[in-house]
Order: sequence, then structure tokens, then C-alpha cells
Amino acid sequence: MAVVTETTEYVDFWNEILVPKFVRWKHILVDGLAHHSAAVFPRLEVPAGGRVVDVGCGFGDTAIELARRVGPEGEVLGIDCCDAFLEFGRRDAAAAGIRNLRFVEADVQAYPFEGDFDLCFSRFGTQFFENPVAALRNMRRSLRPGGRMVMIVWRSLEENEVFRLPKEVVSRFLPPPGEDARTCGPGPFSMADPEVVAKQLEIAGYEGPRFERIDALLRAGETPEEAVAFQMALGPAGEIVREAGEIAEAKRPEIEAALTEELARYRTAEGIMLDTSSWMVSARNPG
Ligand SMILES: C[S@@+](CC[C@H](N)C(=O)[O-])C[C@H]1O[C@@H](n2cnc3c(N)ncnc32)[C@H](O)[C@@H]1O
Repeated sequence: MAVVTETTEYVDFWNEILVPKFVRWKHILVDGLAHHSAAVFPRLEVPAGGRVVDVGCGFGDTAIELARRVGPEGEVLGIDCCDAFLEFGRRDAAAAGIRNLRFVEADVQAYPFEGDFDLCFSRFGTQFFENPVAALRNMRRSLRPGGRMVMIVWRSLEENEVFRLPKEVVSRFLPPPGEDARTCGPGPFSMADPEVVAKQLEIAGYEGPRFERIDALLRAGETPEEAVAFQMALGPAGEIVREAGEIAEAKRPEIEAALTEELARYRTAEGIMLDTSSWMVSARNPG
């Protein structure tokens, strides 16, 4: 089911540019991001029989986990602006015999919520809204009075070695993206500052914002070569490469050699492991 009637520049960017890359690198993304939700899930108050919405749910693995938590009497709605991601969720849910979960393609900013959810959850799905306050307000409208919003967002680039280091290496060779570069929205680190986010939440009508830091190692690849290919395609380094176009292609061998040298230092028995850090942000809808 699709509720998208008109798309924004950012939603188009997700569908046209990022979907194929996310699908290609799904194993690294879902595995890496799951460490952050694994730290949060045991603390979520998800009542059996409860109603939960997962916004910006991507491939749907957290929505599936939430559907298991609420049990057959409960209900989960997964929303994302890219139906190609949701197709994975629909297939995985069907394969697992999960029937209390629906996936809807929509822009979270404009989705007509009805105020009947106990929990509005998001893992790294709220940092890309054209208007974060409008989107957070709309997410609040999804909640019954007293319902809780819990989102996981990245802390700053400096606190996330897995993105900071490759960006620094690529920047030795290529210029930063220009002013008119196409982007996914405000970007992965747009909710890193608790003061800014607390203010956004207050304006959006929430009460009692809380921030809790989560640190986790992300497996950027099994080998340095895989980690390099991942970084050349996605994240801040990938954005620089994409925007530099032909210049990047001409310099690709030297960039890849420099990245391989740096990332090889992070090799462990489990693969190429780098630090990541996020906030679990929670707040209440007063009604
Ligand atoms: C970094 S991914 C996280 C996906 C998933 N929550 C996870 O943790 O694997 C961000 C997700 O937000 C979605 N997204 C971005 N802007 C959106 C919007 N305005 N409405 C709905 N989904 C959006 C993207 O399509 C993408 O699936």
C-alpha cells in the first residue's frame, strides 16, 4: 500500500540513488545498525497487545522484532518512503509467519496518523526529514496521550570513526561536495546535538526528552577490500566520491589504496571493526 501522493527532492534521492546502494550493502548496514537497536530493545516498554509504529523502517528488521514483541494481539506498522526496502520486510515477515505487521510506503512527515499508537520507534530513520520539527510533530500525532517516541540517531561525525576516518582519507584526494549537491536530506549527523534535538522535541510538543549514549563496533567489511568498496559507495566518503564524478574515477586507484592501508589497521578476527556512537532519544506525548 502506498500513501505517497507527491514526493520531495530528498525522497526522490533515497529512491533513485540510495536504494540500489543500500540493497548492495544490506548485510553490512543491517548488521551494523542492529548493534544499536540491540542495546535499546531490552529497555523498550512494548506491552503485549500494544500498537507500535516504526518510522523510516528500511528493510523492516526492527519492525519484525517489534511485531514479535507485541504478539499476535498487538499490531505494528512499518513506514518508509522507499517501497523497494519494504519489499524485503514483507518477504521476511511472510517467511517468518508474522501477520500482525503492515508495511506502508509514505513520507513520515505527511502520513495521516490517527493517534492510536503506544510507541513510535525509529532506528536511524529520522535524520533525513526536510523539516525535522514538522516530522517530529507528525510522529507525535501517531501516539496516544502518554505514548512514547524512541529514536536512535547518530552522534557527531567525530564520535563515529567508521564514517570520520574514510571521509578524512577521501578528502585528501577530492573536493567537498558543492552547494548544489543532491542529498538524502539534512543527513546522518543532523540530530547529533542533544540541545538542538531537545528544542526540536519541545517545539514539536513532546515532554521529558531523555538522551542515552550507545557505543558499538560496526563491522565495515569482512576484509579491507570489502570495507573500502562499502566506504567508496556510501556514507560521507561515498558522497564525496559520487559528487566528484570523473575526477574521483580518475583517482580511484590511489584513493582505494590509501583507504585500504588505513582500514587494514582495524582488522580483527571478526572483520574490519570501527567505533560508532549513537543517542537513544526518548520523549513522551502529553496528549
Ligand atoms: C539510514 S536508513 C535506516 C533504515 C532502518 N530504520 C534501519 O535502521 O535499518 C534511513 C531510512 O529512512 C527512510 N526515510 C528517509 N526519509 C524518509 C521520509 N521522509 N519518510 C519515510 N522514510 C524516510 C529511508 O528510506 C531509509 O530507509
